[in-house]
Amino acid sequence: MQIPVIIVNFKTYKEATGESAVKLAKACEAAAANAKGRAKIVVAVQAADIFRVASAIDTKLVDVFAQHIDANGQGKSTGFVTAEAVKEAGASGTLLNHAEHKITDIAKRIATAKAAGLATVVCAANVAEAKTIASLTPSPDYIAVEPPELIGGKVSVSKAKPEVVSDSVAAVKSANKSIKVLCGAGVNSREDVEKALELGTEGILVASSVVLAKDTEKALAELISGI
Ligand code: G3P
Repeated sequence: MQIPVIIVNFKTYKEATGESAVKLAKACEAAAANAKGRAKIVVAVQAADIFRVASAIDTKLVDVFAQHIDANGQGKSTGFVTAEAVKEAGASGTLLNHAEHKITDIAKRIATAKAAGLATVVCAANVAEAKTIASLTPSPDYIAVEPPELIGGKVSVSKAKPEVVSDSVAAVKSANKSIKVLCGAGVNSREDVEKALELGTEGILVASSVVLAKDTEKALAELISGI
């Protein structure tokens, strides 16, 4: 198994915007350095902050991902977020189809991201959606299952709905063994991460318990301790 991944989604939280995004990313960098290779840390930041964050941290230690890209190519597409632009700004991957930013042309976006050299993490709300995404061509690198009703809460998906996690792992792997499965929503403790890995995932996607923590480094260290 590869090193488990922890993706910290900055969303559009005030605490994770602009200079605060840099501060948060630096705390993630410090936690990644202390993890000594036990976990791969990724920060998924707003498009406007990609360059600022990627320029301020060691991107060999912490990967910077976009939270979303559009399928539009470069040229006549005012206001869209192109894969090429986020790559050029310093992103090495992108989230797609997050519960808070659903899309319908997932395969097209994966193809667009891949063509620009971006890794892809496609979110799924449930087992059925995870299964559908797993059989797309081209396939994503990761599928992250996140039941929307648990997002932003205090109870983790791995505790509240373990069957959704394990059934998603089974469904994805039966469609395409090379896709890695993550889970997210409500993840906030060492036990939540331990349980997620026990259920067959290769990492987690997290936001509020890290972004809104008083001590980011401590909150992330707690999650890393579950690996
Ligand atoms: O993308 C991660 C996310 O939706 C989970 O959010 O706040 O429940 O960790 P949260």
